[in-house]
Amino acid sequence: MKSIAGQDALVTGGSAGIGLALARALQAHGARVGICARDADRLKTVAAENPGLQTFVADVGRTDDLRRLCSEVSERLGGLSILVNNAGIQYQYRFPEAPAEDILAKVDHELSVNFGGMVKLTALLMPQLLQAPEAVIVNMSSSLAITPKASAPVYCASKAAVHSFSRSLRYQLEDAKSRVAVLDVMPPLVDTAMTAGRWQGRLLPEHVAAAVIEAVLEGREVLKLGDTVRLDVLNRLAPRLAARRVRG
Ligand SMILES: NC(=O)c1ccc[n+]([C@@H]2O[C@H](COP(=O)([O-])OP(=O)(O)OC[C@H]3O[C@@H](n4cnc5c(N)ncnc54)[C@H](OP(=O)(O)O)[C@@H]3O)[C@@H](O)[C@H]2O)c1
Repeated sequence: MKSIAGQDALVTGGSAGIGLALARALQAHGARVGICARDADRLKTVAAENPGLQTFVADVGRTDDLRRLCSEVSERLGGLSILVNNAGIQYQYRFPEAPAEDILAKVDHELSVNFGGMVKLTALLMPQLLQAPEAVIVNMSSSLAITPKASAPVYCASKAAVHSFSRSLRYQLEDAKSRVAVLDVMPPLVDTAMTAGRWQGRLLPEHVAAAVIEAVLEGREVLKLGDTVRLDVLNRLAPRLAARRVRG
């Protein structure tokens, strides 16, 4: 993408963490930005603190919400040219000890928020994206897509699904000779509510946001940053060591 200025962008999970930092960065570069999340009160607070930011109450894990979100986005933003599939949640599971019903109660929700929702939203917004002079779909994966940890098996698998989906989607959009790019973002540990209380030295969400903007402008396909880059190298040279380092 040549410029962010004048583009219309939607960031899912944009009321906190990486999504909010990215929404602010897109705004600062001159885009018209909408964010969606579930908590209406938090969205109101974020809107008050960020004049011009459009907010939409929607749960990306619910198909009806996604349909409503798309029609509201069409009404309140122009033709969308930047879609950031960022919303995500992480549950911890212990398969050897947990009652099956505890796992059954969480797994569909986690997969639908982290993966199913992004697939559905991409499908619903594809006509708008294809019409734009140039467009980009930014999918938030994770370094854990390649090197999973023990405590969050479904989360890691959902991020591997995002990583794989992004590549197939890019192939299809290339074959269709579209002007829609796909950027697969694989952050390491970032300092947000999702990782509260873990490991010091995490990246700041603003750092990730700035790197995403740069990658969009450079037309990159995959963005690895910070510890993901180091882990990637270790994974190639000494995969067992890399696995031991992350597995927890
Ligand atoms: N933090 C990390 O270390 C890290 C590393 C790699 C990848 N990532 C990925 O980066 C993305 C953002 O993570 P984060 O750490 O910034 O998370 P976060 O601080 O917990 O923020 C999550 C955001 O998503 C929204 N959200 C959660 N469930 C939603 C749903 N069902 N529908 C719509 N919005 C929803 C939340 O608002 P509501 O609760 O109001 O809905 C909030 O705005 C996720 O996909 C995550 O997997 C994070």
